[in-house]
Amino acid sequence: MNILVMNGPNLNMLGIREPALYGSGTYDALCKKIQAYCDEKNIQVTFYQSNHEGDLVDRIQQAYFDKVDGIVINPGAYTHTSIALLDAVKSVSIPTVEVHISKVEEREAFRQVSYIRAACVATITGKGFDGYLEAIDVLMEK
Ligand code: DQA
Repeated sequence: MNILVMNGPNLNMLGIREPALYGSGTYDALCKKIQAYCDEKNIQVTFYQSNHEGDLVDRIQQAYFDKVDGIVINPGAYTHTSIALLDAVKSVSIPTVEVHISKVEEREAFRQVSYIRAACVATITGKGFDGYLEAIDVLMEK
C-alpha cells in the first residue's frame, strides 16, 4: 500500500504557529511520526506540503498517475474556501481522509464549512498529530 500525506498552507509552521491550538511539534516531527507508523505497518508514504492551492491540485492529480492507494490531507485554511481541491479529489477517485489537528467544529463559524469533505471517506478532527495515524488506519481498512 502506498499513501500520500498532504498538508496545506501554514502547516509548515507547526511548532511556531499558535502552539495552544496546534501543539509544539514541528512539521518535521509530524512527518517523522507518520513515517515511523508507516514503517511499522509496511506502508509506503510520501509527504507533500504547499502554501499554494494550485500546487496542491497538481499534486492530487499526480497521485492518480502515480497510482497512489490513499490520500491523507489536511488542507489547512483551503478546507473552508477551495472548491478546486474538492474537484481534484473527485477527479482522481482515490480514497481520501480529511484531517484537522484542532477541533474545527468548536472554532469560528467560518471553519464549519468544509468543501473537500464531500469527497472524503472520513474526517478526523481534534486529535492532534495522532489524527493523521488514525486517518492511515481508516485507509488501511478501505
Ligand atoms: C486546520 C484547521 C484550519 O481551520 C486552519 O486554517 C488550519 C489548520 C487544523 O489542522 O486544525 O490551517 O486544518
